[in-house]
Amino acid sequence: MKKYSVLVAGGGSTFTPGIVLMLLDNLDKFPIKELKFYDNDAARQETIGKACAVLIKERAPEVEFSYTTDPREAFSGVDFVMAHIRVGKYPMRELDEKIPLKHGVVGQETCGPGGIAYGMRSIGGVLELVDYMEKYSPNAWMLNYSNPAAIVAEATRRLRPNSKILNICDMPVGIEVRMAEILGLESRKEMIVKYYGLNHFGWYSDIRDKAGNDLMPKLKEHVAKHGYVVHKDIDSQHVEPSWNDTFAKAKDVYALDTNTLPNTYLKYYLFPDYVVEHSNKEYTRANEVMDGREKHVFGECRKIADKGSSAGASLHIDEHASYIVDLARAIAYNTKERMLMIVPNQGSISNFDPTAMVEIPCLVGSTGPEPVQIGSIPQFQLGMMNQQVAVEKLVVEAWVEKSYTKLWQAITLSKTVPSATVAKAILDDLIAANKDYWPELH
Ligand code: NAD
Ligand code: G6P
Ligand code: MN
Repeated sequence: MKKYSVLVAGGGSTFTPGIVLMLLDNLDKFPIKELKFYDNDAARQETIGKACAVLIKERAPEVEFSYTTDPREAFSGVDFVMAHIRVGKYPMRELDEKIPLKHGVVGQETCGPGGIAYGMRSIGGVLELVDYMEKYSPNAWMLNYSNPAAIVAEATRRLRPNSKILNICDMPVGIEVRMAEILGLESRKEMIVKYYGLNHFGWYSDIRDKAGNDLMPKLKEHVAKHGYVVHKDIDSQHVEPSWNDTFAKAKDVYALDTNTLPNTYLKYYLFPDYVVEHSNKEYTRANEVMDGREKHVFGECRKIADKGSSAGASLHIDEHASYIVDLARAIAYNTKERMLMIVPNQGSISNFDPTAMVEIPCLVGSTGPEPVQIGSIPQFQLGMMNQQVAVEKLVVEAWVEKSYTKLWQAITLSKTVPSATVAKAILDDLIAANKDYWPELH
């Protein structure tokens, strides 16, 4: 069996240790010769790198491991780049969330003006990674989950149309794990799902077991009462009360269209007033993550590095990220596994923009994803998606053309924003906050 060389870009990410543990747990299914980390923040990466060196020495000493901030060293000789960077890191996420909230608008990592601001930072960072990969390992594939995935995917479609970058999201996996629990199934892989939409903006239209039995009625009965809340600890990532509220709110999102089951992120577009009312302007999700996951992961990593041992450490395998191994395997071994991917529509949703980047099931093999046919979608979803895809396309146009007006239009068009006046006030504050990251707009 061929052994693969993998680069994790964003080595200093809070998710890196969980992903490394998950890769180490799957070496029989996806053998690794070499694992490298790349980040542009040497100190942040070193904390995670030193701890992962210990984990690898303990569990799979045959895997060669290194971390670097040098792009040539990092991107040379690799088969896969698993990318999860956060341009501007948590302090900028905090501003993405707090600036809109100051104007009475949803403040969220990937939705509304915060997601747009993050998109304007991420596009350049992700394109840089793609270019390094193409320069130093032209045959490699990039599995990218750097957010905001919808905007990043539109940017790579437009600006690097031939690059081997696959954009993915773990939210449907998180929802499907809950669905499997509701249904009493061993694994989410026992379900065959039909899903369509944009990233963080989609709906399940059909869910069946492998024998073809319709599983939607039982799921709908649960979601109508409890949203996606289940009474079992099945997810190590989406655990805090704020996430529980999001899973619960899916009940109200579902009520708007009982023919489908919604992605949790739709709450930001359909109930923005509720979201703003329930937000703390002084303490947002970024604060929660900095005080929670970031402190925990970095604290545990320091302990592991100091002791030279992971005994007693509470870092867990990111089981939930095993879809990344599934994707790498699908490409490496041409498995044709059915997975949700963010791909150009090209007629799959027959009544929707063929150039839109949509999230739909694809059969993934060694030449990449083959999308399944969705057909035509109902007016409600079509209307929402037309508006949202225009936001995403305008952000990329604004970045390319350095256009103030296009970014103002993008923020105005977001369903989370009440008027062009409010959009302009938010935009002006975001420009000041992002001066080190955005192109200068005119
Ligand atoms: P984090 O801030 O802990 O880690 C991100 C790392 O990226 C940091 O170490 C930072 O120094 C590095 N970085 C920033 N810009 C860079 C650049 N230009 N080149 C190289 N490295 C750079 O963030 P996190 O919370 O661990 O999340 C990482 C990313 O993964 C975020 O974009 C997050 O939104 C995304 N994510 C996506 C999904 C999904 O469903 N698609 C799921 C989970 C996380
Ligand atoms: C989900 C989404 C990701 C997002 C993450 C945020 O998993 O699919 O795209 O980055 O949630 O989680 P956080 O814990 O950082 O708020
Ligand atoms: Mn996501």
